[in-house]
Amino acid sequence: MNADALDKKRVIAIDTQNTSLVLMANNKGFVFHKYYGERQATPENLLDVIPFDKMRMETFEALSVFGGEYPGEPSLKATHADGNMTTDLRYQSHTQTKIDDNIVETRIRLKDTYYPFFVTLVYRAYQAEDIITSQVFIENKEDGAVVLENFASFDLVTEGREYWLTHFHGAWANEMQMEEEKLGKGIKIIDSKKGVRTTQAENPSFMLSLGQPAEEEQGTVIGGALAWSGNYRLCFELDSLNILHMNAGMNPFGSAYHVESGKTFETPRFTFTYSANGKGPVTRRFHRWARRYSLRDGDMPRPVVLNSWEGAYFTFDEDTLTKMMTHAAGLGVEMFVLDDGWFGNKYPRNNDKAGLGDWQVNKKKLPRGIDYLIDHAEKEGIKFGIWVEPEMVNPKSELAENHPDWIVQRPHRELLEMRHQLLLDLSNPAVQDFVFKVVDDLLVKHPRIAYIKWDANRHVQNFGSPYLPADRQSHLWIDYTRGLYSVYGRLMAKHPKVIFQACSSGGGRVDFGALAYHHEFCASDNTDAFSRIFLQWGTSHFYPAMAMGAHVSGSPNHQTGNSSPLKLRFDVAMSGRLGVELQPADMTGEEMEYSKKCIAEYKRIRDVVQLGDLYRLVSPYKEDRSALMYVTPEKNRAVVFAYSTRYHSRQDHPTVKLHGLEPDREYKVKELNSTSKSKLFNGNGKTFSGNFLMNNGVQLKIRKANESVVLELTEVK
Ligand code: GLA
Repeated sequence: MNADALDKKRVIAIDTQNTSLVLMANNKGFVFHKYYGERQATPENLLDVIPFDKMRMETFEALSVFGGEYPGEPSLKATHADGNMTTDLRYQSHTQTKIDDNIVETRIRLKDTYYPFFVTLVYRAYQAEDIITSQVFIENKEDGAVVLENFASFDLVTEGREYWLTHFHGAWANEMQMEEEKLGKGIKIIDSKKGVRTTQAENPSFMLSLGQPAEEEQGTVIGGALAWSGNYRLCFELDSLNILHMNAGMNPFGSAYHVESGKTFETPRFTFTYSANGKGPVTRRFHRWARRYSLRDGDMPRPVVLNSWEGAYFTFDEDTLTKMMTHAAGLGVEMFVLDDGWFGNKYPRNNDKAGLGDWQVNKKKLPRGIDYLIDHAEKEGIKFGIWVEPEMVNPKSELAENHPDWIVQRPHRELLEMRHQLLLDLSNPAVQDFVFKVVDDLLVKHPRIAYIKWDANRHVQNFGSPYLPADRQSHLWIDYTRGLYSVYGRLMAKHPKVIFQACSSGGGRVDFGALAYHHEFCASDNTDAFSRIFLQWGTSHFYPAMAMGAHVSGSPNHQTGNSSPLKLRFDVAMSGRLGVELQPADMTGEEMEYSKKCIAEYKRIRDVVQLGDLYRLVSPYKEDRSALMYVTPEKNRAVVFAYSTRYHSRQDHPTVKLHGLEPDREYKVKELNSTSKSKLFNGNGKTFSGNFLMNNGVQLKIRKANESVVLELTEVK
């Protein structure tokens, strides 16, 4: 449609059950941001009032472009085939289509005023979850290639007196540490330039609270997360009028991308929501949406796993593993996962210095092969899974000897090793086929393998692709991740029943891009219960408990040296996808019995934790305690977890007010995982109203450091 033919004002409302994102096309054909907030029945009435006055609004295009009105960081910057660096996008048409009962898709087609250069903004509104996703498609019909330098998936403008940004940063074995800061003038950027393991130091997700620091159940909060495992960038620019411009997408850093004539460039999906009641609803909506749309088999409770890593590391033989499996089965574990160290013959994988890339069973350690181990697992009534790291190679390997040209490398420079390994070049289709084959062969030869732990233990560094031409080197960042996703996609299609875990030195691939192909992720190599209270708290903001691997390991902890009671270790791990990662043969009989009891309890409450709604009750960042709970959608069952992180004197009454229950219903409260020494809740076995539990709360006798309690609530009719 021609811009002149437009109505004077055209309103495009993207609604969910409780929210509206309103865009407007004016008579010049510009499409602007107008409103994002609680649902508006008559969005056209907003036009002349809130929130941006007409003069300022002119600079708030739905997708800010370089060369347009907005003088800040643009969402799109393109150099056209003739060298013109500016873009001017105007409305062409839009459609709103009901994809199914829950999803409405809005497509807004924009065209450059001069060039045959088209941009389509695609929003999907998930009604029940109050989630919107946005994606941008950039189509080049010019005579030659267009070079893209900025290519955000998401663009939003908002106004609030103050802007408080919560984001998640960290390091190896300390991922997803929560930080909140007040945004000042200028730009705040959260990004990754690592290419691989991109969520180790920052996560591509944020919560933005308007007017005040974020609270759990009150205040205005916008939350968002990008589905991309490569370099990303979240950009928050506070302009001279105190208006916040946000955009997010793949990181443009060193990534100039040539879109050939006739081709379309697709950006990854960005997911967001608006809450008038704090961070809690943002989390619950993300979790519900992720389980339904962005996680494999999101309605299937996950098995309890025993992973061999911290129990055996690289040092094992058949006997070690079969004994571990027998013990695991005795504990009630459902899946045994053989970690690193099972492969390599010319260069055996006995430590991290050699063998990576040579995916043949090590004949010395495992002379009877993988099927012998699977037979044993099945005899014990459990399933079998295995670790791979197929994107990587040790220089000391047959793979590196045979295919040096498959390795990401910087020409004329010494290669930087990390954990003695290098990265394979997944922009190369031959490498994609190899990586696919590594995993496919395993699953075809051993069809009883039920679980793959997919690791990735270094980032890019030696930037350079032997495959890409000289003038397309900057494509490596994006093409690597696209190559990876293509391999994931092929494997998923061929092996739909196998459970996949995304691990990347622990928590290096915790993003909705990777998660779309996986059932779960490893949250961290740090398995220490105390550290996990904080780490899992941060992770819980966007990523659902059913996907968050949380393992009980030995004490003192191998990473931190902390000692903690077995009860605390179970109480913390049971708030996620419970697993065990230790040598069961080292446990005392009493510890074995206790672990068995906890695992049995977990299986009973697993559906509440894994499929329920999360309420964060007491933040470990604010107090020296922490509490959270899960409630079923029917609100008839709940599980409460509470932890003490230091000694509390007698003046300190640790009352925890519960949330998310029905006030008029009666709930019986039962303490789980109790030890013979302690009863930590006086009301054990008694019945209370939801009203009492939420308004009065429960008094928990967790006064010492490392004390913890788990309560199960069941509605009594
Ligand atoms: C990474 C993973 C660990 C383990 C080791 C094996 O660090 O995060 O869980 O698999 O690799 O080398």
